[in-house]
Amino acid sequence: MKAFVALSMCLVLFSCNALLFNALDTITTDQSIRDGENLLSAGGTFELGFFSAGDPPKRYLGIWYKKITTRTIVWVANRVAPLADASGTLRVTTHGSLVLLDGNGSDIWLSNAPIPVRNPVAQLLDSGNLVVRDAEGSDPKNFLWQSFDYPTDTLVAGMKLGRNRRSGFNRHLTSWKSIDDPSPGNFTFQLDPNGYPQELLKQGSDIKFRTGPWNGLRWSGTPFLNPNPYYGYEFVLNEEEMYFRYELLNRSVTSRLILTTNGILQRFAWIDRTQGWMLYMASPTDQCDNYASCGAYGSCRVDTSPVCRCLKGFVPRFSQEWDMLEWSNGCVRRNPLDCEKDIFVKYSWLKLPDTRSSWFNESMNLRECKVVCMKNCSCIAYSSLDIRNGGSGCLLWFGELIDIRGYSNYGQDLYIRMAVSESALLPSHQKKHKLVMGLAVSFGSVFLILVLIICVLQCKKKKVKLPADPTQREQLDWSARFNIINGIARGLLYLHQDSRLRIIHRDIKASNVLLDFDMNPKISDFGLAKSLAGNETRANTNRVVGT
Ligand SMILES: *[C@@H]1O[C@H](CO)[C@@H](O)[C@H](O)[C@H]1NC(C)=O
Ligand SMILES: *[C@@H]1O[C@H](CO)[C@@H](O)[C@H](O)[C@H]1NC(C)=O
Ligand SMILES: *[C@@H]1O[C@H](CO)[C@@H](O)[C@H](O)[C@H]1NC(C)=O
Ligand SMILES: *[C@@H]1O[C@H](CO)[C@@H](O)[C@H](O)[C@H]1NC(C)=O
Ligand SMILES: *[C@@H]1O[C@H](CO)[C@@H](O)[C@H](O)[C@H]1NC(C)=O
Repeated sequence: MKAFVALSMCLVLFSCNALLFNALDTITTDQSIRDGENLLSAGGTFELGFFSAGDPPKRYLGIWYKKITTRTIVWVANRVAPLADASGTLRVTTHGSLVLLDGNGSDIWLSNAPIPVRNPVAQLLDSGNLVVRDAEGSDPKNFLWQSFDYPTDTLVAGMKLGRNRRSGFNRHLTSWKSIDDPSPGNFTFQLDPNGYPQELLKQGSDIKFRTGPWNGLRWSGTPFLNPNPYYGYEFVLNEEEMYFRYELLNRSVTSRLILTTNGILQRFAWIDRTQGWMLYMASPTDQCDNYASCGAYGSCRVDTSPVCRCLKGFVPRFSQEWDMLEWSNGCVRRNPLDCEKDIFVKYSWLKLPDTRSSWFNESMNLRECKVVCMKNCSCIAYSSLDIRNGGSGCLLWFGELIDIRGYSNYGQDLYIRMAVSESALLPSHQKKHKLVMGLAVSFGSVFLILVLIICVLQCKKKKVKLPADPTQREQLDWSARFNIINGIARGLLYLHQDSRLRIIHRDIKASNVLLDFDMNPKISDFGLAKSLAGNETRANTNRVVGT
């Protein structure tokens, strides 16, 4: 008989589990939850009630996993206003607010409802979300209030970490002060809306760790975020919202992301066999995850010693400090930029730099991206926004590039604006072409450009090593040799003195002198060449290069 009553009640309430556990998942305006009573979600996954923390112990209203033996709190209502004793009561007001009352009937915590509804109820969903809604409507769009909008230190599946772009409402994690004190600690983990969004872990206002921008598969700086059979990730960016969220793909798996009291993001999975939480990943992971550890234009790699290197084409700003492993002042360009003449050099296997001063366009391709960046002298670098399917979208950086790290078998391509004199950094097949283009801009001399192009395209086939090759040496009588030497000297004089952009070749040797069919010499391979400002007549080469 009792069982029959239970079963029919069960059918009426559509919450059989709750009834069998002798607990409800919903309260109405004329019910309440006193300290010692609980709400149990319909599937029996989460429980809401009062718990103790601190010394002397205080009482908090919170949500935890029901089935997990180690009490694991995922949400706290009154983290800034603890109850001194066990006299607390949770109610839903007729206006649709949740209110936590102390023994004297004063409200110590309140959830505001934006609009009154006729018949408000509070329900603990099986996702762990405590919601206030109209008894008639269970559409999430019409929730008056939900705990998922006010995360504490834990992100459970389905919760959004991010912002509403219209209202600016920011759902973020805030650490507990200590493991025994749920009040807000010093660390936050939140989506930064400046430039292209990225998640930042901050201590107060200092950035400690940056995930990097979302690249379609994962954050640029979280290589371990790989597709797996247990949970899926998504990043949503539309006119309304920008947020990160994960979903459990296998109901038998329990997983949570937590921001610890000492500022580490940790993902745990519950292991039934051991009845314990297994640490699945943590960020920051290593020295190179510490924000800007190698300064501007420095790249951090944990597998090199020292871990910081300047990107190619850059040198330490203060070399003595740098050598003493003080890297925070970073690196500066070896050769200054010159806007229209600049080139873009590809750097691979990177965590993309801080995007707070970036600009993006999701529909442009990489070629269009380069054109836009080239046109604006303050654009310092570009890359694809989404790395899937060969890459799409455009991300542009303005200002210094900071917080870059390098990986050995993972990472993204970044194209950095460099002086044309850094052409040596281009891959060799691009080098000559780029130099011709660079010179074309610089000399403005149609004649010389033609010679250089013809050289690159044709003379190469007939490369003559002047003194070395005995068979060809015979074709060269003394007057031909004199002509060649004279020609080389004239070429060098032109580069050194007469051309508008003065150039030191730095690699003059027989194999870099090409002969055309009339035995006229052409100087080739400007890969190591260095350009001088118009009025400079000498330059120091600090590094041994060329011949
Ligand atoms: C109730 O109010 C009295 C007097 O203000 C105070 O001493 C007492 O601590 C309060 N009790 C609770 C449970 O807050
Ligand atoms: C939080 O910051 C305050 C002030 O900067 C400091 O005194 C305190 O030790 C910090 N607490 C933790 C847990 O880092
Ligand atoms: C979910 O995970 C469990 C344990 O790993 C496994 O036995 C089960 O087959 C998985 N179910 C699905 C639908 O993948
Ligand atoms: C993005 O690029 C596309 C294609 O070039 C262009 O039509 C669109 O206006 C751009 N959007 C913005 C916001 O600049
Ligand atoms: C270059 O880009 C910056 C940042 O978007 C912008 O403020 C500036 O007006 C642009 N300059 C030109 C010449 O387009």
